[in-house]
Amino acid sequence: MPVDGKTEIAICLGSACFARGNNRTRKVIEDYIRNNGLWDKVIFRGGRCFNHCQQGPVMKIDEKIYDKITELNVTEILDEVFGQD
Ligand code: FES
Repeated sequence: MPVDGKTEIAICLGSACFARGNNRTRKVIEDYIRNNGLWDKVIFRGGRCFNHCQQGPVMKIDEKIYDKITELNVTEILDEVFGQD
């Protein structure tokens, strides 16, 4: 559920996802939020293992899980969610 009308983005920082790239992807997401002026619309947080390690690295936007995110495809996902061109 959105919190306070904001979209919640949670990136898994559990050891499997962290080791497979989520540490770098976290920075890409932060840059995306900043560059698109989204800080007042989102809550961005790191989470512990989401029990999806096999499909990782993973990210959750509200309750939806996105599998196999990378520094490259995460921007595409965020564009879809936030309707950026
Ligand atoms: S470490 Fe990310 S889902 Fe388990």
